Amino acid sequence: MALYTNGELIDRLAEAHFLKKEEYLQLLRHMTDQEREMLQEKARRVRESHYGKKVFIRGLIEFTNYCKNNCLYCGIRRDNANVMRYRLTEEEILLCVEEGYGLGFRTFVLQGGEDGFFTAEKLGRLILEIKARHGDCAVTLSVGEHPREVYRYWHDCGADRYLLRHETASRDHYEMLHPRQMCFSRRMECLYDLKEIGYQVGAGFMVGSPGQTLECIGEDLVFLKELDPHMVGIGPFIPQRDTPLGDRPAGTLDQTLVLLSLIRLMLPKVLLPATTALGTIHPRGRELGILAGANVVMPNLSPVSVRDQYRLYDNKICTGEESAQCRECLNARMESIGYQVVAERGDYAGFSSER
Ligand code: 5AD
Ligand code: FES
Repeated sequence: MALYTNGELIDRLAEAHFLKKEEYLQLLRHMTDQEREMLQEKARRVRESHYGKKVFIRGLIEFTNYCKNNCLYCGIRRDNANVMRYRLTEEEILLCVEEGYGLGFRTFVLQGGEDGFFTAEKLGRLILEIKARHGDCAVTLSVGEHPREVYRYWHDCGADRYLLRHETASRDHYEMLHPRQMCFSRRMECLYDLKEIGYQVGAGFMVGSPGQTLECIGEDLVFLKELDPHMVGIGPFIPQRDTPLGDRPAGTLDQTLVLLSLIRLMLPKVLLPATTALGTIHPRGRELGILAGANVVMPNLSPVSVRDQYRLYDNKICTGEESAQCRECLNARMESIGYQVVAERGDYAGFSSER
């Protein structure tokens, strides 16, 4: 017999923003439709108390799909010979920024594989240039693991935020998903370095990745509470056919939605995207994500000519649409559920962007 009912656990999470691992596991094992509805309702209320009905947008610029790593789930892993590798030039990246700025984007996310071509200096120059042109914008980096001094240098150049999903908080699971060269402790260390330097930091994991047990997810939640990041990126695992895990089943919509709500209650002010992966497994995935407590969407600003090559997983949405089309489409989608996309930096509530 459980000590508490699911309803009691959800109430307590909403008030104390904290549960024990076993209690998360109880909620993850089984919830009635009514309990799920109650969970979402509470998550929405918490989200609205901090961010209202605003949805923040982030312009994602996937500037290189070269990667020295070989993560078993990822479509741009080094050993995948079926991807056409590309790098955007500095001019191309700046053009994406200009276009995005005109469309109302005030955060740009530079995302790429771990590509030695983009040295610390090259990326530093790019950050300086974007900040010089658009001092009212936030720059977010998502370029993997680097030495602390490099993180610090980019922060000095003006980078505001950093996304580095922890991928899984269980060491054994981490070692199943990654080749031997990649180190669980190093990844964790990177996240703490980034926080200490003063970035707004994003961690996160895939829902339903191969080998993930409920126990793993319980550890992810406990870890997230401890790290206390400003952003959490979660989306379903989706197989990519040219990877070693290409025949594994995708994560589910329902489990992702439950986790979005739990994370919203656990970290009330967190910036929480309804991810492209969620939009890929369900035609209204991103809308449902927002209704479960998310408050961010991250459409693509990369040139349409390369979008199809940044194929982390199969059937990714929006690879054929122009940036302006996605912007319009998202407006309509968010309005359809009573939310509104805003042209703001969208910092963590209470975070000062002063340096
Ligand atoms: N399915 C879903 N998400 C994936 N990612 C990488 N490969 C996949 C996949 N097959 C996620 C990882 C990474 C982020 C950029 O994309 O969590 O951190
Ligand atoms: Fe890209 Fe809808 S968001 S087409």
